[in-house]
Amino acid sequence: MSKNLTAHTQSVDATRRSSLKNQRPVVIWLTGLSGAGKSSVANALELALCEAGHHTYLLDGDNLRMGLCKDLGFSDDSRVENIRRVSEVSRLFIDAGLIVITAFISPFNRDRQLAREVIGSESFIEVFVDAPLSECKRRDPKGLYKKAEQGLIKNFTGIDSAYEAPKNPEIHINTLDDDVNTCVAQILKYLKEVYI
Ligand code: ADX
Repeated sequence: MSKNLTAHTQSVDATRRSSLKNQRPVVIWLTGLSGAGKSSVANALELALCEAGHHTYLLDGDNLRMGLCKDLGFSDDSRVENIRRVSEVSRLFIDAGLIVITAFISPFNRDRQLAREVIGSESFIEVFVDAPLSECKRRDPKGLYKKAEQGLIKNFTGIDSAYEAPKNPEIHINTLDDDVNTCVAQILKYLKEVYI
């Protein structure tokens, strides 16, 4: 970061923006293996929040990697940078008053911890979208596990790149036993009780 920068005071602040929307901004951070169900849960959760009158935004790994993060690959360094950008964008969006849902593998504990720090712990809800690797391989919705096992894709999470499961997520959902609606209901219950 350059030293020659000055932070400008702005007349409209986060509180004013969110009070217009009548909601408490938060980032609901979904992490889990490819194929665990992050995008499906995120999509259904956004729909449910939207139908309840909330102003939301969904940031999804595959989609961001087609735009803002299209210069990034899947080395450890690229993933760190990917999650750093997502964290900063999420920070801007909650400053704008939105309820943000993120769906990224975000495989490393350290980067999720950094995301929590950038966003602010009081506005960060980590959701572990849990499904065993064997189940994700069985689902293989994009055929990527098959390619990774054939050596056609390198650094694939769960095959030749690590996934560090969260130790203390605010919410732990299990997509092996529970369907999407049940998982969404579990998140909404938490939001209602603890947050919104
Ligand atoms: S992250 O690790 O940097 O958080 P992100 O969630 O953005 O990953 O992107 C993951 C998506 O990219 C997967 O759902 C999958 O569709 C695709 N993908 C392509 N190559 C890989 C890979 N080597 N490892 C994991 N996902 C990959």
